[in-house]
Amino acid sequence: MNTYSGKTVLITGSRGIGEALVKNLFAKGANVIVVSPSPSSETLVATLLTSSSNATTGDGATNNKIVAIRCDLSSASSASELAAKAVQASKDFGTHGTIHHLILCAAIAPFVDLGRIEEDEWNRVLAVNITGPVFLVKALTPSIANDGSIIIFSTSGTFSSGVLPVYLPYMASKGAINQVARMLAKEPLLVSRGISTTVISPGTIATDMLLGQKTEAELAAYRAISPYGRLGEPDDITKVVDAVISGGKWLNGANIPVNGGMAV
Ligand SMILES: NC(=O)c1ccc[n+]([C@@H]2O[C@H](COP(=O)([O-])OP(=O)(O)OC[C@H]3O[C@@H](n4cnc5c(N)ncnc54)[C@H](OP(=O)(O)O)[C@@H]3O)[C@@H](O)[C@H]2O)c1
Repeated sequence: MNTYSGKTVLITGSRGIGEALVKNLFAKGANVIVVSPSPSSETLVATLLTSSSNATTGDGATNNKIVAIRCDLSSASSASELAAKAVQASKDFGTHGTIHHLILCAAIAPFVDLGRIEEDEWNRVLAVNITGPVFLVKALTPSIANDGSIIIFSTSGTFSSGVLPVYLPYMASKGAINQVARMLAKEPLLVSRGISTTVISPGTIATDMLLGQKTEAELAAYRAISPYGRLGEPDDITKVVDAVISGGKWLNGANIPVNGGMAV
């Protein structure tokens, strides 16, 4: 399957949903740049290259490539450094420094409510979940392909009344990123070149972000309120990212709940 042959995609986040996106896009022929602050992106890339039919390229048929970039994306300067490395990676891939699709999936979600929040933690959540992504878009805008796309991850929690107060800084950051996306959808620097911005808002997805923080009883409660009686899986999201990319620029500004009907 060479759906993404000749395209270069940058994905922030290499575990959970990010890992599933990387695997899906690479298997479908995309050149992939995967970003994380820990070695998880390098481990993922090594695994994919080892399991690939060709040890140095992706599906063999398209010779697509993949690279990990280690980056704590949480500031304008880290975004600028990452953008420069990503453009170089795209040149190395043979795609002329162009990023066709930018997927901002990475985030942090510490469990902390009003009584326990401290300024450092508040600032860190906003830095990772808003500042880094915004300045990465800014730094990469000249390199995003005409008719390319920006996909930003938010959460169905921004429109669910069931959200818990321990998500205080996380929800503040996701509410802000929703508004950032609305502005990007009207940003002349982007829309003049047909670049769309779309928000994907998952519900509960079985990744470390959720499983690492919840008791079995809490997870059972989430399953119970899901119309399908289960948590979402990362691959429930990859299908939607495929659809958004293929949907083109008329999806511009959409915020898509992807929660199996848990929060409607
Ligand atoms: N899972 C859910 O239930 C759920 C629900 C709603 C929305 N979402 C959203 O979906 C997206 C993906 O969540 P997930 O469940 O896949 O999360 P996850 O399993 O916790 O993975 C998060 C990824 O983000 C990376 N990351 C964290 N801080 C970073 C930084 N400063 N710079 C660059 N990368 C960084 C992590 O890198 P390391 O591997 O190095 O730690 C990790 O690979 C997030 O935006 C989240 O808010 C998730």
